[in-house]
Amino acid sequence: MLLFLLLIFLQSSICVEKGDLVGCFKPGVEYFIIKESRGLLECLSVCVENNNYRYAVLNNVTSKCGCTNFLGKNYSQIPCDESCHDCNIYYAGNFAPTMPENLAVENVTNTSAYILWEKPKFFLDIRNYQVKANVIKTYANYIGNPQWWTFTNNTYDAELGSLNPGTKYNILVQALSSYSDGEVASIILQTEIGDPDNIPFLPTVIKREGSKITVKLNPVMNNNGPVTSYQVVVIDQDSKLFFQPESLKSFQESKEDELGYYIAAELQPKQVLEDFVVGDGKTYGGFYNAPLNPNSNYLIIEGMVSSAGNITKVVYSDISTHVYKRDKTNLNSNSSVLVTALTICVVIVSGILAVIVIFYIYLRQKAFKRRLRRLRDNQELAMQGPILEVVNEGYIPEEEVQPIDHYNVLKQKVWRIPQNLLKVDNKTLVGVGEFGSVHSGMIKKEDDIPVVVVVIYDKKLSSINKKNMLRDLDLLIKTDKHKNVLELIGLCETMDILFVVLEAASVNLKDLLLGSRDTSGGRFSSITENQAVSFMIDIAKGIQHLEKQKVVLHKRLCARNILVNANNVAKVSGYGLCHYTHQNIMPDYTRWTAVEIFSNFPHTHKSNAWSFACIMWEISALGGTPYGSIPNNEIPGQIKRGLRLVQLPYISEELYQQMFDCWQVEPGERPDSSAILQMLTHCQVNSLPLLNFELYPGFQYEQFYMDSELVARTVPIL
Ligand SMILES: *[C@@H]1O[C@H](CO)[C@@H](O)[C@H](O)[C@H]1NC(C)=O
Ligand SMILES: *[C@@H]1O[C@H](CO)[C@@H](O)[C@H](O)[C@H]1NC(C)=O
Ligand SMILES: *[C@@H]1O[C@H](CO)[C@@H](O)[C@H](O)[C@H]1NC(C)=O
Ligand SMILES: *[C@@H]1O[C@H](CO)[C@@H](O)[C@H](O)[C@H]1NC(C)=O
Ligand SMILES: *[C@@H]1O[C@H](CO)[C@@H](O)[C@H](O)[C@H]1NC(C)=O
Ligand SMILES: *[C@@H]1O[C@H](CO)[C@@H](O)[C@H](O)[C@H]1NC(C)=O
Repeated sequence: MLLFLLLIFLQSSICVEKGDLVGCFKPGVEYFIIKESRGLLECLSVCVENNNYRYAVLNNVTSKCGCTNFLGKNYSQIPCDESCHDCNIYYAGNFAPTMPENLAVENVTNTSAYILWEKPKFFLDIRNYQVKANVIKTYANYIGNPQWWTFTNNTYDAELGSLNPGTKYNILVQALSSYSDGEVASIILQTEIGDPDNIPFLPTVIKREGSKITVKLNPVMNNNGPVTSYQVVVIDQDSKLFFQPESLKSFQESKEDELGYYIAAELQPKQVLEDFVVGDGKTYGGFYNAPLNPNSNYLIIEGMVSSAGNITKVVYSDISTHVYKRDKTNLNSNSSVLVTALTICVVIVSGILAVIVIFYIYLRQKAFKRRLRRLRDNQELAMQGPILEVVNEGYIPEEEVQPIDHYNVLKQKVWRIPQNLLKVDNKTLVGVGEFGSVHSGMIKKEDDIPVVVVVIYDKKLSSINKKNMLRDLDLLIKTDKHKNVLELIGLCETMDILFVVLEAASVNLKDLLLGSRDTSGGRFSSITENQAVSFMIDIAKGIQHLEKQKVVLHKRLCARNILVNANNVAKVSGYGLCHYTHQNIMPDYTRWTAVEIFSNFPHTHKSNAWSFACIMWEISALGGTPYGSIPNNEIPGQIKRGLRLVQLPYISEELYQQMFDCWQVEPGERPDSSAILQMLTHCQVNSLPLLNFELYPGFQYEQFYMDSELVARTVPIL
């Protein structure tokens, strides 16, 4: 049956089948004689069963059967010539391309690598080459999914960007054909180490005694390379010379050059955990830790050395964060003028002091009263008790308003799911939200309904967080149900846990788009243009609904925060309590952010229009990363200077114009969600093409750079 299907499939794509005559062989072809056979069919099955060979070689006089993967040079293509009429070569069944030949790494930088390869030895057709980069070893504290790239079938070199610095990768290259994905060639490469991404804090001075200063050094985290050693640097603050890290030297050399700063010690990473005595006269890592001058002022700073291969990077504490403290000057003079002056000073200073003390006592009392109030809030904020609507960052205004039991009011409005109906799967963590972890679950009704559950532990929330959580819950409840917005199904409480139960969706739009990449049947996506436009319409409707509700301002619009259910309906998610992300990484929204936000203007519905247009582009580009390889930190500047997403060849003029209008600098000039919706609907109803996913010569997917879209998670995991 399987063979039958395979044959049909092959017939419909390229007309080569198992058993087709390839040519004839001459003496010299290397092949393995397996056994005598009773004709072609038996020979073919022998070659497939033994190691899945590409070719069966049959002597139709002696019926000797052989199998081989490579024909070498010594064969002629059909029609066979006289000299080999009785030895024929047939396709045996394995049509997968062999591995690309001569895979090599030409050069690497700290974030990229340039690789080369050649055609496989065997292939019947090649649609694309696929390159994957798997992390083998990295200094970074998180490892993302493997990165991958797809290239056209006439590409034999590639610059792989967005790699992690100081990371060892296994690079896998394979040809993809319509028969099967080819064998994989691999090569290992190591990117150069990058600039350390953290600098050491200033060491803490523990005590100063004569010629010695005891300090506590701080360990440094580095994601871009190893932490090889630490340096202790002494800067004489009375020296006139500016500290220049490039000219740092040992104590002796520094003394000759009269620099006023030097390296007092180079320490192994584990040594920084102990207190270090600067000026103890010993030698550390080849540096003399000279006794200090008891009468000079010193600043001790820390350096971190990261070194691998021929590259060394050193970073030092930021000395501008140091608060200069001068020793008090000795007053040796006894002149009466000075005494008078001093007396006046003392009087003035004590006056000021008295005022400060009185003011301080006043503040203390006020603060005490506030604390009493806050204490009361804390008790009342417990989820089981009545909850006050609190304004003004936790302080109750002087004129007391009537307390409202806010939480109970909220609860009235939603389905309170009985505990026995809700089943939470504690083992599958779907993600992590601001207030709790998110698990998959099930509601047991007539049919089991799959759900996503935000699990909020009452005790783990601070009162501020509790307030924010209630605000988000409030927004979620106030948002009326809509087909294109992720739905709140209900709440369920136990003594100390609140379960917020949300609709489950099968996949997020980003993954769906990337997964649709497929160049077969003359197209480059498995989703239709119409489906892509439907997603845009769904999202526009969802955003419009949120805007109409006037309760939510979605600030995190991107394809990753759009969920798609089993019926291919897109739902806006990712706001308020619906915002949850992977445990270790979270989206970086820079690429979807409107230009005015970079200048600290407030977020408006028109900022959402900008982000929505980026999603339209992302859908058109089948999940490609907006602005491709431009690093995140350069995006704000470049956008302010006019950078916009480009029109891809398969995006129609109308659609791109619409996107472009949304990227106007002046928010007022951008269309609102209903205008966009109207245009999209109009085109879809009248079958006006907005996108064209048909394959064309020179087609290339827009690249997806995972590292640019996701950042390591820094918020604590609840
Ligand atoms: C085939 O192989 C034989 C022996 O290896 C060699 O002498 C001969 O020249 C080859 N023929 C062709 C056409 O390459
Ligand atoms: C062997 O195969 C060749 C080429 O297909 C064919 O011309 C010839 O008749 C066959 N000989 C026998 C004995 O089947
Ligand atoms: C790597 O080599 C290729 C070809 O030699 C060149 O085009 C590219 O600029 C090089 N890249 C770097 C970073 O040296
Ligand atoms: C590359 O793709 C084109 C179009 O799909 C096809 O005509 C050509 O034969 C392919 N080349 C290889 C080497 O498979
Ligand atoms: C990579 O190297 C370039 C130049 O060598 C440097 O400008 C850049 O900051 C480095 N990037 C990282 C992440 O270290
Ligand atoms: C270090 O540099 C030398 C000469 O510049 C070179 O021969 C050597 O291969 C380099 N080593 C590494 C690990 O890059």
